[in-house]
Amino acid sequence: MKIGILDSGIGGLTVLKSLLNKCPNHEYIYFGDTLHLPYGEKTCEEVVGYANEIIKFFENEKVDVIVIACGTLSSNKEHLKSNKEIIDIISPIKNKLDKYSKISIIATPLSIKTNAFKKYLTSELNLIACPKLVPIIEGNDYSSLDNVLKDYLESTKDSDALILGCTHYPIIKEYIKKFFTKDIICLDDFIVDIIKDKNISN
Ligand code: DGL
Repeated sequence: MKIGILDSGIGGLTVLKSLLNKCPNHEYIYFGDTLHLPYGEKTCEEVVGYANEIIKFFENEKVDVIVIACGTLSSNKEHLKSNKEIIDIISPIKNKLDKYSKISIIATPLSIKTNAFKKYLTSELNLIACPKLVPIIEGNDYSSLDNVLKDYLESTKDSDALILGCTHYPIIKEYIKKFFTKDIICLDDFIVDIIKDKNISN
């Protein structure tokens, strides 16, 4: 099975890593659109335009499935067009997190604006837009990160869980743990289950 994976940059590699660990026998093609990142500070029309071009590239490469390893694009999935199956990384959380009464979600500004998460969660949600995180992660300079996270995570204290709603954020999970000590949920865990359930692994 040939699987195309896309993101604005290195974030989707967190998803690719999980898939390589759990479903290693597929062929994967990764596309990081570093020319246009960060997606989270652009409009829906802009990021959908970039993604539809990448999707055409994957179609020419004859992939079987396209994984949208980007929370921002997944939030706007209904605008993506392909003759191949598209799997986003937000919808797989449906009915999986109902045990939490209050969940904080950190994500890019466009993801927070679209708030696709509310379609799949029954818990009370605390949404936090984090425009500074992707540039810090892509720039690989973490000197300001603790201060930035302290501010962003200030309002999470009464939440039972924190969703890392952008695929870049698992890269800084160890930093996030300093400020949020309860359950931290990464979206890649759920997409691995979807690929397995589709019985296309191995
Ligand atoms: N990693 C992406 C996401 O999950 C995109 C981040 C960005 O480019 O702003 O939202």
